[in-house]
Amino acid sequence: MQNTPAHLELVRPDDWHLHLRDGPALAAVLADTAKRFARAIVMPNLKPPVTTVALADAYRQRILAALPAGAEFNPLMTLYLTETTESNEIDAAVASEFVHAVKYYPAGATTNSAAGVSDLKNCTATLARMEKLGLPLLVHGEVTDTAVDIFDREAVFIDTVLSPLRRDFPALKLVLEHITTRQGVDFVMAQDNHVAGTLTAHHLLLNRNALFAGGLRPHNYCLPVLKRETHRQALLAAATSGNPKFFLGTDSAPHAKSTKEAACGCAGCYTANACIELYAQAFDAVGALDRLEGFASFYGADFYDLPRNTTQITLVRESWQIPAALPYLANDPLVPFMAGESILWRLQD
Ligand code: DOR
Ligand code: ZN
Repeated sequence: MQNTPAHLELVRPDDWHLHLRDGPALAAVLADTAKRFARAIVMPNLKPPVTTVALADAYRQRILAALPAGAEFNPLMTLYLTETTESNEIDAAVASEFVHAVKYYPAGATTNSAAGVSDLKNCTATLARMEKLGLPLLVHGEVTDTAVDIFDREAVFIDTVLSPLRRDFPALKLVLEHITTRQGVDFVMAQDNHVAGTLTAHHLLLNRNALFAGGLRPHNYCLPVLKRETHRQALLAAATSGNPKFFLGTDSAPHAKSTKEAACGCAGCYTANACIELYAQAFDAVGALDRLEGFASFYGADFYDLPRNTTQITLVRESWQIPAALPYLANDPLVPFMAGESILWRLQD
């Protein structure tokens, strides 16, 4: 690896896992992503969830309408899998050309997942259709059994849900989203080309100590929850390995300050305002900046059979401070990840 460069030019990256919300929240956050990324896979966990192609189309139009003038950003839509999703909805999704995946939330696993799937056996016909047509399944990989320790829920999910799913649908394209454990990394590496995984910037930068550093830190709380340092090391090794099965998915998930700093605070870290910069920081820390472009700009597009982007962004090695808060809802701001802290890389305008 060469000495750390002062400038880093990258083909414009894409975000393969993003929460944009709706209405005023959407209007507040969208520009942060559109400034950095050419495309993003947009999560469907709205209230009510985006369960049909018609709902995805309407949501996509609202996103396009909220874009700042001149922005070139393509939202890639997803459908929210339920136990009543019909196979013909999969046909319509593939025909639409704007729905690129289906999201599987185990019911109750996270924010707005109540309408998710309790038993995948009830989705057999739908999954078979996706397997046949090549529409990827995006997986929130955690069991919801409260008897399972929260730090073990990803590993238990891999053994009890994901491995059987792979056996039953070997040609189903599948992304294990926001991997947080060594077991998740090992699982993806052991599979064929139908399987990939995304990694967030916050899971690359922090371990679970950050939840309790000098007191309870609600802005570091997300799901799957941060894990111990050995797992973070495994994620960082995977991200910087140059293995195309691992690519960028921020899982940037805005929640208003009052709902994070609460007796029962919401899960989600807002990283979109500095996200490619945060990944650069994580890669820089292990001398792997030369691996960032593949991870951020190439491997996801290749997995989704989409063309790679052709324009570029430039990052400059120049410290700046992440704001303490950002405008979000009327009288309720958004506290970004690493609020008030310095970050080493800046996006050149
Ligand atoms: O931390 C999270 N926040 N994890 C998720 O899976 C959902 C997300 C959200 O929508 O807020
Ligand atoms: Zn998410």
